[in-house]
Amino acid sequence: MAESMKGMQRTCRCAEVTEEMIGEKVTLMGWVQKSRNKGGIVFVDLRDRSGIMQVIFENGPIDEEGFEKAAKLRSEFVIAVTGTVQRRAGAVNTKLATGTMEVTAEYIRILAEAETPPFPVEENSKTKEELRLKHRYLDLRRPDVQRNLILRSKAAYLTREFFNKEGFLEIETPMLGKSTPEGARDYLVPSRVHPGSFYALPQSPQLFKQLLMVSGYDRYIQIARCFRDEDLRADRQPEFTQIDMELSFVDVDDVIDVNERYLKYLFKEALGVEVQTPIPRMTWKEAMDRFGSDKPDLRFGMELVNVSDIAKDLDFVVFKNALEKKDGSVRGINAKGQGGLARKKIDKLVEFAKGCGAGGLAYIAIKEDGSRKCSFAKFVSEEEQQRLIDAMDGQAGDLLIFAADRNKIVWNVLGALRLQFAEQMGLLDPNDYRFVWITEFPLLEWSDEENRFMAMHHPFTMPMEEDWDKIDSDPGAVRAKAYDIVLNGNEIGGGSVRIHQNDIQEKMFEVLGFTKEQAWEQFSFLLSAFKYGVPPHAGLAYGLDRLVMLMAKADSIRDVIAFPKVKDASCLMTNAPAPVEEKQLEELGITVPETEE
Ligand code: AMO
Ligand code: AMP
Repeated sequence: MAESMKGMQRTCRCAEVTEEMIGEKVTLMGWVQKSRNKGGIVFVDLRDRSGIMQVIFENGPIDEEGFEKAAKLRSEFVIAVTGTVQRRAGAVNTKLATGTMEVTAEYIRILAEAETPPFPVEENSKTKEELRLKHRYLDLRRPDVQRNLILRSKAAYLTREFFNKEGFLEIETPMLGKSTPEGARDYLVPSRVHPGSFYALPQSPQLFKQLLMVSGYDRYIQIARCFRDEDLRADRQPEFTQIDMELSFVDVDDVIDVNERYLKYLFKEALGVEVQTPIPRMTWKEAMDRFGSDKPDLRFGMELVNVSDIAKDLDFVVFKNALEKKDGSVRGINAKGQGGLARKKIDKLVEFAKGCGAGGLAYIAIKEDGSRKCSFAKFVSEEEQQRLIDAMDGQAGDLLIFAADRNKIVWNVLGALRLQFAEQMGLLDPNDYRFVWITEFPLLEWSDEENRFMAMHHPFTMPMEEDWDKIDSDPGAVRAKAYDIVLNGNEIGGGSVRIHQNDIQEKMFEVLGFTKEQAWEQFSFLLSAFKYGVPPHAGLAYGLDRLVMLMAKADSIRDVIAFPKVKDASCLMTNAPAPVEEKQLEELGITVPETEE
């Protein structure tokens, strides 16, 4: 039977007991992590969010009735205990912060009994994630998950504190908005009052924060929920959280400056980590050329080498064909010390490359004895191989991998292989925080699917003045005043200076293939607002989940979200999404086609 806690008052949390408190009386409340009955004496590890305290129940300090209660405790029972803090009689437990102490119980109440949980509540759980997420309320009791969420809370608090001091105002924007094109797929919410009409949940507060600048709020910040119906990955959730900001009367350097100070403050206060500023900056072009990625991981080298100049003189049709393509190139990476990789493993790499869109991979493996295995030896002489090897700084024991195709594919393949090797070779130290700003992104990106240019960031991004004259002749070459902040190969944030001139905005819409009417239909509120005096403005948004994931050294953003969704966007605990009552659908004027089971 559960007892009430009436008349009892918790004095502190379990791991808030310090050695100075030895001899003092405390009242602790929490969950039984573990209980061992050694006949005549019961040892209980009592757990709350602060940690664990060992409690001893022994006839004498506690009466007969209390001892009987203690003897029947099982894991996850909730208890209240009053007792005296003592130096540990037995061996000190160096794994616990409270390992030199114990509490000798004088009084106990069982506040709630518990069934045996479906998996043990313990750190570094081996239980499958599906089962843990089904019972997330239990999973959330695990100390590693609790540490992550406590860190997240701290990060959010420090963020508010920092930006408040910098004169930012926290302003909320609507969840029920209007669907606008570009970006990901929207989550739609049907309107009961306007049958056939839908709200869209925000993919980001982008347009609203720009309107707040038009309205003179000058510096805005919001920790905002965003919704995107995308294919999920370890770093993507259908609903996620942004630290979203916008500033007036600023240019790129101003946004970067305040954010470098923010990151320095956040990492120092939350982790004790010193972020070196200024954070290095790299143009998009340089990032792609050197790392094959617009979010390069700078914790290791293995940079891409462009060998097109050597490749063009070889009589190897794969290389020749690639170089004939628009934006074609042959590039390689040198996986140091991987020259002895088994054939099967190399075949796997080739399969992986094909998955990234490549036709294949060519390689030269240099054995320890200096002999080599070249996958295209039929087509090139020893001497020609040597030229490639020299260009790649190939040494005995190295594996040189070449991709030949359009740049986009070559970058994609080698960028991904570079990461795969780094992981296998243990080059990724989670304690090493390498930030980099990526700047000068292309304004536009050609979409084969849509057969038109799309905005690489969004259609309100300012082009670089020096490129604007190319907007008609060579739109793909125009760079944008856009920037991403990247940490250890993760895009943790991105933003841009916005267009605040109507003529440039209209031209942008034209290049993106919108007629004037279509643009007005979609963005009328923004475009009309811009008629009434708009300040130059710029902004940035971080993915809070990704930022905290890296701070917590977690593998997935699911580990830093209290109630995350799984790959198919469902919640295993609540079973959302789920069918609704016929009546609800009728009210909304929605008919759902019968689906065969
Ligand atoms: P962007 O689309 O780059 O920019 O988003 C900003 C940051 O949000 C994070 N992020 C995500 N995190 C988890 N799950 C997702 N599905 C997801 N999608 C994005 C990333 C990303 O860097 N309005 C602009 C910002 C601006 O221009 O000010 C925007 O939303 O870390
Ligand atoms: P093949 O002519 O098919 O025997 O290919 C010769 C070599 O070129 C093999 O090692 C292939 O794996 C490699 N290869 C094929 N396509 C590409 C590509 N797009 N980039 C680099 N190497 C490739």
